[in-house]
Amino acid sequence: MVSPPVLLLFILCSCYYIAHGGDDEHRSSVTLEPRRATVSVPLVHRHGPRGPSRNSDKPSFTERLRRSHARANYMMSRASHVMVSAREDDANVSIPTHLGGSVDSLEYVVTVGLGTPAVPQVLLMDTGSDVSWVQCAPCNSTRCYPQNDPLLDSTKSSTYAPIACDTGACRKLAGDHYQNGCTGGGTQCGYAVEYGDGSKTRGVYSDETLTLAPGVTVKDFHFGCGRDQRGDNDRYDGLVGPRFSLPSLVVQTSSVYGGAFSYCLPARNSEAGFLSLGAPPGAANATGFAFTPMRRLPGVATFYMVTLAGISVGGEELDVPPSAFRGGMIIDSGTVVTGLPHTAYNALQAAFRKAMAANPLRPNGDLDTCYNFTGYSNVTVPKVAFTFSGGATVDLDVPSGVLLEDCLAFHESGPDVGLGIIGNVNQRTLEVLYDAGRGKVGFRAGAC
Ligand SMILES: *[C@@H]1O[C@H](CO)[C@@H](O)[C@H](O)[C@H]1NC(C)=O
Ligand SMILES: *[C@@H]1O[C@H](CO)[C@@H](O)[C@H](O)[C@H]1NC(C)=O
Ligand SMILES: *[C@@H]1O[C@H](CO)[C@@H](O)[C@H](O)[C@H]1NC(C)=O
Ligand SMILES: *[C@@H]1O[C@H](CO)[C@@H](O)[C@H](O)[C@H]1NC(C)=O
Ligand SMILES: *[C@@H]1O[C@H](CO)[C@@H](O)[C@H](O)[C@H]1NC(C)=O
Repeated sequence: MVSPPVLLLFILCSCYYIAHGGDDEHRSSVTLEPRRATVSVPLVHRHGPRGPSRNSDKPSFTERLRRSHARANYMMSRASHVMVSAREDDANVSIPTHLGGSVDSLEYVVTVGLGTPAVPQVLLMDTGSDVSWVQCAPCNSTRCYPQNDPLLDSTKSSTYAPIACDTGACRKLAGDHYQNGCTGGGTQCGYAVEYGDGSKTRGVYSDETLTLAPGVTVKDFHFGCGRDQRGDNDRYDGLVGPRFSLPSLVVQTSSVYGGAFSYCLPARNSEAGFLSLGAPPGAANATGFAFTPMRRLPGVATFYMVTLAGISVGGEELDVPPSAFRGGMIIDSGTVVTGLPHTAYNALQAAFRKAMAANPLRPNGDLDTCYNFTGYSNVTVPKVAFTFSGGATVDLDVPSGVLLEDCLAFHESGPDVGLGIIGNVNQRTLEVLYDAGRGKVGFRAGAC
């Protein structure tokens, strides 16, 4: 990342670093223990016993899948749009006005601290978003949805500051198509994000100290202080998006953590995983990781994508030509079931059903390969493995990474020429490492 000369805080002490996101005002300083390369925050399922939602708010299986498919379709169509525009060599590639994927299907939350003293904030984690935001006081019940924690109160923090209109950080936000309120003549930088499911947040773009772990703080972290939220919001305090584009946490801290991050989604909702910033030591061939090249959409940092080369079931490679995967796969934290192009999906479904032939299928309106395990005490679920471009092979966790409510957690996403999307069920227990600097995505089994 090229940036103007940055000198500031090195004067103070050698354990201060400066992170910058490409322009002068978009800069945060991070204090951390010397040589610490990574930091992790806890991650849990939104509807699990450790999550913020009440059990009564838990959506039905049908509703979860409806949200997941809507998000996947939205993301895939956006990515296709970008690819088509780029292929036509259009110098004026326009990005649709919706700026994030949908939030209603997001299933994992992380806990960080905001302000001084640090106040815990439970945030949805969305790999398809970049602007982070929380609900801020004062805010009445028509503008802010009910959450478990008190609203963040900037008057109680000694480090809060609204970002002014006349700053690079604010201008950059506008340049990224985030509506900003300065056009209306205000002096504070406004932000507004509308998501694919119609959810919205609007407020003041702000500067605050973010605490990731005891003693690990990001000073001058830029986020949205939300004063007007709409949508199917459900008890969480806000959202953090680690997408690799400017306002994200990952880019704001990139001079310290190298723009890399990873997460591990737990096998069960009662368990915890993590979200980490930074790549593990030895990154390029870090122990335990299988790496594949990160596929870039030309010109725009939108989604994280990889290329599948093959799938095996029970150790047997499916007979699917590589051309069936040429559209690429988005890896997403907020999509639940994986969408595979036509040929690959049908081959997987047939091989899986064959391997599970001893178990009765049960009709289900949402997914086409569901089982009734009642009375079966000894169910053997076959291993499913993905092979990615470059040869990296990743075994999905059995059964948590393959079955969702006793259904094969895959569906057909469309024709072979199109893209697919790897959902969060397949990712369970894997550490998925997004190392944009090195252009790689890594997978490590059994990480949580
Ligand atoms: C890009 O937009 C400019 C101004 O709107 C226009 O003049 C130009 O022809 C466009 N270029 C392409 C390749 O569409
Ligand atoms: C909430 O606040 C907004 C403006 O801040 C105001 O327009 C609205 O009437 C308020 N609603 C209630 C129920 O007080
Ligand atoms: C990977 O590890 C091997 C052996 O540990 C080392 O020789 C090699 O230089 C490493 N490659 C990279 C790219 O770091
Ligand atoms: C599952 O199988 C059991 C035992 O055969 C049966 O009683 C039950 O109705 C089945 N449930 C469904 C949803 O098919
Ligand atoms: C369960 O199934 C496996 C594989 O089919 C078999 O080897 C094992 O003996 C079975 N265990 C029991 C308790 O039936």
